[in-house]
Amino acid sequence: MLLDNHGRKINYLRLAVTDRCNLRCFYCMPEEGLDWLSRKELMTYEEMLQSCTLLVKMGIEKIRITGGEPFVRKDIMQFLTALSELEGLKELTITTNGVLTAPHVAELKRIGVTSVNLSLDTLDAGRFFAITKRDEFADVMDTLHQLLKHDIEVKINAVVMDGKNIQDIIPLVQLTRDLPVSVRFIEEMPFNGDGHIYDGLKWDHIRILEEIKSKYPDLQKITDPLYSTAYNYQVPGHKGSVGIIAAYSRTFCGSCNRIRITPEGTLKTCLYDDGALNIKNLMRDGVNEQDMKAILLNAFNNKAKDGWEAEQLRVVRTGVHESMATIGG
Ligand code: 5AD
Ligand code: SF4
Repeated sequence: MLLDNHGRKINYLRLAVTDRCNLRCFYCMPEEGLDWLSRKELMTYEEMLQSCTLLVKMGIEKIRITGGEPFVRKDIMQFLTALSELEGLKELTITTNGVLTAPHVAELKRIGVTSVNLSLDTLDAGRFFAITKRDEFADVMDTLHQLLKHDIEVKINAVVMDGKNIQDIIPLVQLTRDLPVSVRFIEEMPFNGDGHIYDGLKWDHIRILEEIKSKYPDLQKITDPLYSTAYNYQVPGHKGSVGIIAAYSRTFCGSCNRIRITPEGTLKTCLYDDGALNIKNLMRDGVNEQDMKAILLNAFNNKAKDGWEAEQLRVVRTGVHESMATIGG
């Protein structure tokens, strides 16, 4: 079992396979897009597979593929298939914006993907365009229905943004009446690639909960799964559930079980840190497996206590502003 220096079990890797995206969600990246990584800077699939193989041997049980948008990377299905065959890996999941995902859903099911997180901040096509700058709402909804049809568990990620989608909170909760989905409201974080200045959190987890309760006073707390970053609730009689993720308030760090690898191979032991080391560079320098293992263990033994400490310890103290697409959510 892999433990960090705070006695927390580490069993969950979030691997971002690309920084590119076919949407321009304003809370994530500027409209002109970012300075995309070159092919050389990106980890190759071979490098990712090799890293995952080692990490699974060391104790990682669950891998989530993120981005950018995973499905914009060429041959992603081949990579996912290879990952799904990794011995010792118990769970393979994906976070996607759903624009290109629908045609792959049957295959995802076949290779054993049992759960998908779909980023969807609004149920209104006009507001979808205002938030993402792209007219792709219909394809995202198609993905949602394909996932449900194939019996894949769906979690909808909705970032709560003052002035942008507050009117969507209740309709998104309403969606759980007939659909067995978990709608998770996420506090907006400063990771927007400096597309705009983050001027503080207007909607924290407490205010989001109050908003839901104003319409659904009988909302019930339900048991949170182990390591859950969400506080989970259900409206009595609804098929689905509702979660609130205090991503900015960082109330869940005490049970943190996760590490991240960015598209360029940076290992992050906290979302809010600026990277512990670069796995890709070490591999390209020819570091052998045994040494790599020791280097990784050392990083896990220096994990920040929480996201606040991680932010404090950043070398470049300019605050957190990189794009979520370069981190992997
Ligand atoms: N704040 C909160 N959540 C964000 N995401 C992307 N950028 C931000 C941000 N600045 C979310 C996406 C996706 C998840 C991986 O992270 O909506 O669902
Ligand atoms: Fe862990 Fe950092 Fe996430 Fe908190 S923010 S749960 S410390 S990775």
